[in-house]
Order: sequence, then structure tokens, then C-alpha cells
Amino acid sequence: MRPFLKWAGGKRQLLPQLRRFYPADFDTYHEPFLGSGAVFFDLAGSGRLDGRRAELSDENPDLIGCYLRVRDSLDAVLAALGRLDRGHARGEADHYRQVRDRRFNPARRSWRRAGAAIDAYSPDLAAMFIYLNRTGYNGLFRVNRSGDFNVPPGRYARPRIIDAELLTAASRALAAPGVSIRLAGFATVIERVAANDFVYFDPPYAPLSATANFRSYTARGFSDADQARLQQVVVTLASRGATVILSNSVAPLVTQLFEGNLAAHAAGLTPYRVQARRAINARADRRGLIEELIVTNGVAS
Ligand SMILES: C[S@@+](CC[C@H](N)C(=O)[O-])C[C@H]1O[C@@H](n2cnc3c(N)ncnc32)[C@H](O)[C@@H]1O
Repeated sequence: MRPFLKWAGGKRQLLPQLRRFYPADFDTYHEPFLGSGAVFFDLAGSGRLDGRRAELSDENPDLIGCYLRVRDSLDAVLAALGRLDRGHARGEADHYRQVRDRRFNPARRSWRRAGAAIDAYSPDLAAMFIYLNRTGYNGLFRVNRSGDFNVPPGRYARPRIIDAELLTAASRALAAPGVSIRLAGFATVIERVAANDFVYFDPPYAPLSATANFRSYTARGFSDADQARLQQVVVTLASRGATVILSNSVAPLVTQLFEGNLAAHAAGLTPYRVQARRAINARADRRGLIEELIVTNGVAS
């Protein structure tokens, strides 16, 4: 099973390396940087979550709102997406801009003015979120200072806007008993993770240089202090007896936190440098293989 969204930093390319460290046995699965959920859908599709609980979370309210509507209101989402698909066939980039500026952003503003309750994210908003994701520039989700979504149209000849089969499979996986989806910052996993649980951490990657790709998924961004806090959370949960896997860049900040770091070593965490294919980059010449870091206390199979 694969994700129904494109997401910057989506982990489909890295799955072969990550799978090596999936624990054979665990109680609850946690994914606190859900994004498009490549690992969740991989686990669900291979039956590894059968009879288990899964706690999924992310700090992006639109993303979580979209997941909830795909789970609970699939028919309404599909109907709205069908209308967007037909509009796109007629208007393409103009249709994209119209949906973004005259429908999506105004509807989001009203929703945010009313308190941005996640349950009030409508099926229409979810459908527009999927439509803009499938047709916008590199599938990015980015907001400006006033909180409006501002990604330009992408250049796709025939984008696949509606994939009913994929969305239906995703909806079922998300509605399985034991799966919960919440809007939350990553640090809240501390309250939920028990020994013998499995946690996959896929934060916004620390930039390799000051001029590296813009990687802000939320209005707040992800600071160096967040990376350090995340290291503490990973160390705490590994010490608690959970199996943890973290992926990140090989930026000096990250390697300092995990390679040759005493607390990480004492918690049984091992850093592995792996080659990954970077899919989303504005410059085609930078889409080749790059080195990434996987840190885990899991045993390689
Ligand atoms: C690299 S992406 C995850 C990609 C995901 N593994 C996939 O396959 O698509 C990082 C995610 O972290 C989320 N995020 C950013 N800051 C966060 C925070 N403080 N707490 C929780 N999630 C956060 C972003 O919204 C984004 O979806």
C-alpha cells in the first residue's frame, strides 16, 4: 500500500533500508511525523499492524484534517475530488490558481477564524488539499506569513488527481480498529510510548547548508533546538525499551547528536549512513543519490 499524498521528504525511496530495522514483534506503532505516512502504509499493507494499535500524529492541521476526512467521509471527499478533476481538465494552471485563491484559502481562513477545530475540517477542504497536493509544485505544502497556502502550480502533463482505489484502501487502513490520528507535536509521544512499542521518527531534515532547500511544513518551522529536543526524546524512548528508528540528514548538527554521542550510544542507538534517492528538489540535477542517516536500536535483518 502506498501513500495517497506526495510529501516533501516522503520516505518511499528509503523503505528498503528502513524495513531492515522493523522489529519482528511489537505492541503499538507510533509515527509522530506522519507526513504522507510511507512507513505506516507500508506496515499496514504488509499486515504487520493487524491486531495492533497505531498512533499517528503530525503538527500540520491541514494534513491531519485531510486524513480524518479520508477516514470518515470518503464518499464526500471523492465526489468533491471528481469535480476538481473535471475542472482541472478544462482549466489546468488557471483552475489550480482559482481553487487555491478563491476557494481553498478563503475556506481555510473561515475555518481558522472559527478556531481551526480539526473535526471542522470539511470534506471539501480535504478534497482541495489533495487536489492542490497532486497538481501543485512538487507536492509542497507551504504557507505565507498570514497563513495562506501559497504553492505555485506544478508542471504536470496529466496529473493523477483522483485514485479512488488508493483512497479507499487508505481510508480502510486509517479506520482499522486501534488506529488513532491526532494533531500533536512530536514530543507528546513521551506520554504514550511503552516498552516493546515501535516508533518511527521522520522529522523535517536538518539543512545541510544555510542555502539548502526550504523545508518548512508548518508555520513554525523546525529549529536546531527542536532537533536537540528530538534527540532527547529518541534517547529516552530507546532507554525505555521501545524500538526506535529515526531518519535524518547528515548535517553536522545531526551527526553531533547521534554519531559518537555518549547518551545515544548508552541508549543502544547505532547510526547508519545510507544512500537514498532524493525525489523532491527544485533542481533536477540535485535529485540524485544523497547520504542520509538512519539511527536505531533495532536489529538489522
Ligand atoms: C519529513 S516529513 C515526514 C515524511 C513522512 N515520513 C512521509 O513518508 O511522507 C516531516 C513531517 O513533520 C511534521 N512536523 C514538523 N514539525 C513538527 C513537530 N514539531 N511535531 C510533529 N510534526 C512536525 C511536518 O508537518 C511533516 O509532515
